[in-house]
This record gives sequence, C-alpha cells and structure tokens, in this order.
Amino acid sequence: MKKIIQSALCAALILGLNACANNEGASNVGNSEATNAKTVVTEEELGLRKENLYTEQGIEPVKADFTKPAPGMSKKFARSYENAPPLIPHSVEGMLPITKNNNACLGCHTPEVAKSMGATPIPKTHFMDFRSQKMLDHLAQQRFNCSQCHVPQANVKPLVENKFQPDYRNPNEKQKSNLIDTLNEGVR
Ligand code: HEC
Ligand code: HEC
Repeated sequence: MKKIIQSALCAALILGLNACANNEGASNVGNSEATNAKTVVTEEELGLRKENLYTEQGIEPVKADFTKPAPGMSKKFARSYENAPPLIPHSVEGMLPITKNNNACLGCHTPEVAKSMGATPIPKTHFMDFRSQKMLDHLAQQRFNCSQCHVPQANVKPLVENKFQPDYRNPNEKQKSNLIDTLNEGVR
C-alpha cells in the first residue's frame, strides 16, 4: 500500500514537474526579461550598429576601402554563389547616383559596346520581362537602377561572420551567370 502511494506521488510529481517546465517555457516567451535578464535586447539596442536606433547619435559611416581601380584595371571577384549579382570590381566615382537621364553603366555594359570596352555585357535576363517571361527589345525597366543590386566591393570587417561556402555546379559560374538557361529549373 505504501509503495503504491509512493509511486502515485512520483507520477504526480513527474507530471507536475513537466507541467512546471512547460509553464516556464511558455512564460519565457512572454516575459524573457524576468527569467533571462542578460539576453534581453531592448528596442533601442536592436540592430548591429551598437547605438540607440532612435537617436543614432555617434553613428559614423564605415570607412570603407571601396575599390580604387578604374574600369578595365581591376580584378574580378568570384560570385558569392551561383547567379548572385556580381559586385562592381571597379571605381564608380562620378557614376552614382544613377538618374533618369544619366546612367553611365550603360555606356560600357550595353551588349553592343561591352566587348570593345572590355566589360561584361549586361546579361539576357536583364532584357526580359519576368512577369510575362517574354524577351524585350530593350533593357527591362526593373534593371535600370544597376546599383540597387550591384554594389562596389569594399574591404571591410563583416559585422556578423558568415561561414557560407558556395557550391558551384560548374566552376565557370564563379565568374559568369547562367540564369537565362536555368531560370525555370525545377518548375513545371
Ligand atoms: C568605362 C566603362 C565602364 C563603366 C562606365 C562601368 N563599367 Fe562596370 N565594368 C567595366 C569593365 C571593363 C569591367 C571588367 C572588370 C574590370 O576590368 O574592372 C566591368 C565590370 C563590372 C562588373 C563585374 C562583372 C562580372 O562579370 O563580374 C559589374 C557588376 C559592373 N561592372 C557594374 C557596373 C555598374 C553598375 C556601373 C555603373 C555604376 C558600371 N559597371 C560602369 C567597365 C565599365
Ligand atoms: C534587380 C536586380 C538587378 C538589377 C537592377 C541589375 N542587375 Fe545585373 N545582375 C543581377 C543578377 C541577379 C545577376 C546574375 C544573374 C543573371 O545573369 O541574371 C546579374 C548579372 C549581371 C552581370 C554579369 C553577367 C554575366 O554574364 O555574368 C552584369 C555585367 C550586370 N548584371 C550588369 C548590370 C547593369 C549594368 C545593370 C544596370 C543597367 C544591372 N546589371 C542591373 C541583378 C540585377
């Protein structure tokens, strides 16, 4: 009799403990401040700048060493992954911002002139309307603002370490894109 009562008590205790643990888990979500004070991040501290995001006092732009060489003199960097937008390997001094009437990038990268400039031609994907998937006879408007996707490379310390290693299916893809051929891969 004593034994039965004991094991019943144990079961109740175990159940109780489990219930307690669950409760704690639930309250952690809602009230992490009370249970885990050290890992609390206030709204003001959110972000990687280590400054109050509401006042932004003491914010100085990163002193980035943007690539200095003029177009044609630089070394191209490998793509971050297959079909990632390539970084701009040359100086963009005097080319930004791109405006409606002044897009210097086109002067060298338009396919008709690119070869003579020694530049990579703008790929076919940029001449395609992605909604209808039809080829256009002009650059797609969505691609006009080159610097929206292509950024100059700079030698800076990453704020967050990234151990990602790209896995190219073909070594050519380190320097060239193949998106026009692989666009609907896996889609039926
Ligand atoms: C004076 C000609 C010229 C102008 C203007 C120019 N580029 Fe370039 N670009 C080049 C050349 C040449 C290369 C080949 C790499 C090198 O030698 O710098 C290149 C390379 C690139 C690449 C790398 C391509 C790859 O295959 O990795 C990108 C991206 C790029 N440019 C974007 C731009 C953007 C965006 C602009 C406008 C802000 C621009 N370029 C303006 C000549 C130019
Ligand atoms: C919406 C984002 C976006 C915009 C805007 C954009 N690009 Fe790209 N670009 C990409 C991506 C993604 C790739 C790689 C996949 C591909 O080829 O489409 C690429 C690839 C390239 C390449 C390499 C082509 C190759 O054969 O390897 C060049 C050169 C280039 N873009 C130039 C430009 C220029 C110049 C402009 C402005 C007129 C521009 N891009 C605007 C996203 C963009």
